[in-house]
Amino acid sequence: MNFSISNRLSKIPFSSIREIFEEAATMEKSGINITHMEIGRPDFDTPQHIKDAANTALQQGNVHYTSNSGTLEFREAIAEKLKRDNGIIVDPQREVVVSVGCKEAIFNLIFAFINPGDEVLIPDPAWLEYQYIVELAGGIAVSVPLLEENEFLLNPNDVRDCVTDKTKMILINTPHNPTGAVLPESYLKELADISIKHDLLVVSDEIYEKLIYDGEKHISMATLPGMFERTITINGFAKAYAMDGWRLGYAAGPAALIQPILKMHQYNTSCATSFAQFGGTAAYRGTQTPVEEMVKAFDERRKLLVSRLNEIPGVNCVVPKGAFYAFPSFKELGLPSKELATILLREARIACVPGSAFGNHGEGYIRMAYSTSYDKIEQAMDRMQKVINSLRVKR
Ligand SMILES: Cc1ncc(COP(=O)(O)O)c(C=O)c1O
Repeated sequence: MNFSISNRLSKIPFSSIREIFEEAATMEKSGINITHMEIGRPDFDTPQHIKDAANTALQQGNVHYTSNSGTLEFREAIAEKLKRDNGIIVDPQREVVVSVGCKEAIFNLIFAFINPGDEVLIPDPAWLEYQYIVELAGGIAVSVPLLEENEFLLNPNDVRDCVTDKTKMILINTPHNPTGAVLPESYLKELADISIKHDLLVVSDEIYEKLIYDGEKHISMATLPGMFERTITINGFAKAYAMDGWRLGYAAGPAALIQPILKMHQYNTSCATSFAQFGGTAAYRGTQTPVEEMVKAFDERRKLLVSRLNEIPGVNCVVPKGAFYAFPSFKELGLPSKELATILLREARIACVPGSAFGNHGEGYIRMAYSTSYDKIEQAMDRMQKVINSLRVKR
């Protein structure tokens, strides 16, 4: 028997951070206490009123397929939210499709619009799934560097340099994973001009929208002049509402862009879990106090982590303005980030993600999620400081 896997899939690697996760799990099994700063999810529970809404829906027998686009009530709640929070006006009937997490929406839209050979501009470093989904679809992922000296902001000049006559799409993610950068309006406007000039489809992944600090303001690309008709806005519930396991997200935009995504979604998952959609409706229509409390806790941890990192000689951390990641540079140590992540795991008992896992321009950095308690971060930083100091002495 020779069940060879498809050419398409054989070109895509398993996640390069698997070894770190596996080693952390083995260490924990043998009784070693690890501080988890690798996982990109909140350490909070889903707010109670959201769980209650899903529980009630389940008890009331909402256990069947919903409309492929999602229940109309949920799509209406999403449309209300987009209008209230973002200033995006969509028709819940034809301009919203609910998906199984943001990831499914991104997968569907790339397969809906990208032909083999089409180029897609993707920030580097970025959430690596973008690149691999584009490659699975036969597209060409073109990385646009995000540089520390520019606070990891997507520089419109670099984008211009990467545009060719094959460029079809640009992916933006603000607040950004893994750097925490928040794109200011002036940048978005320039990126919008480039998209209009070169007739690019824009995907705006806004999953970290609510996790934003220092008075920064999240601006949705779709609200800039001339952008609604070419922008697909992606958002979800995993981060702001601590609902990552619920697998709930959506794509919103003009019907001409959303209906092809719906077509892909029909052949992919049919619909998101019925009773989870009732939880999503409660998340958007109910109190936002739990979100505010989570953001406050993240902010305190962010300040602690960044100041502790910047106290360590040889480490430099740009202040992240959003999401829940710090992306410090350890370039002065001259170690590959994967090697450094292994040392931090073995010697400081901190699990984190090597920057190289997010693209070539992530080399020399480490992603540390502050979705773990303040006290644990404090203790972890004491250990990290010792390990980095001793590495510097050895080198
Ligand atoms: C930038 C970005 N987009 C999308 C996702 C996936 O979201 P979901 O869990 O809703 O599929 C993640 C998850 O980490 C992410 O970092």
